[in-house]
Amino acid sequence: MDESTINIRLMKAEDFDAVVGIDEKVLKNSRAEYYENKFEKLFKSKDFVPTSLVAEDKDGKVVGFVMGVLYMGEYGIHREEATLDTIGIDPDYQRMGIGKKMINEFLDHLKSLGVNKISTLVDWNDSKLIHFFSANQFSPSQSINLERTF
Ligand SMILES: CC(C)(COP(=O)(O)OP(=O)(O)OC[C@H]1O[C@@H](n2cnc3c(N)ncnc32)[C@H](O)[C@@H]1OP(=O)(O)O)[C@@H](O)C(=O)NCCC(=O)NCCS
Repeated sequence: MDESTINIRLMKAEDFDAVVGIDEKVLKNSRAEYYENKFEKLFKSKDFVPTSLVAEDKDGKVVGFVMGVLYMGEYGIHREEATLDTIGIDPDYQRMGIGKKMINEFLDHLKSLGVNKISTLVDWNDSKLIHFFSANQFSPSQSINLERTF
C-alpha cells in the first residue's frame, strides 16, 4: 500500500466503532467502556479542543487513530497541558509510515492552536512504542512518575 493514499482527518463521534475495533485488534482485548468515557469527555463537553485524528485508506476505511487532550479553560487554551493519550494503527497497516504521518499532522494542528509542547505516558517495557516515539523526536521528560502499591 502507498502511504500517500492515506488521508488524515479530525476524529468524529461516529468513529467510535472503528477506534474500538483497532484497539481490540492491537491489544486482543476489548476496551469499549474505556473509549465510551473518552468519547463522552471529548465530544460531548465544550471544555476540550478537538485534536484527535484518524487515518483512512483510499476507500475511507479507518486504519489508525491518535487521541489528544487539550483543555480549554475559562481563560482559553492551556498550552502546556496538551497530551497524546492513545495511538493505534491497525496491525495490517503498521510499519508503512502511517503513525509518523499522523504524529506530524497532529503536531502541526496543535502548533496552529499555539501549543508547542506535548507529553505522553509510555510503559517503560513497551519497546515498540518507545522506539516509535523516539523516532518521532520525543524524549524523556525531566520529571518521573512515582507510585506506591499498597
Ligand atoms: C507504535 C505504532 C503507533 C507505530 O505506528 P506505525 O504506523 O506502524 O509506525 P511508522 O510506520 O510510522 O514507523 C515510524 C518509525 O517508528 C519506529 N517503529 C515503528 N514501529 C516499530 C516497531 N514495531 N519496532 C521498532 N520501531 C518501530 C521506526 O523507527 C519507524 O521507522 P522505520 O519504519 O523507517 O524504521 C503502532 O505499531 C501501534 O499502533 N502500536 C500499538 C500501540 C498501542 O499499544 N496502542 C494502545 C492501544 S491502541
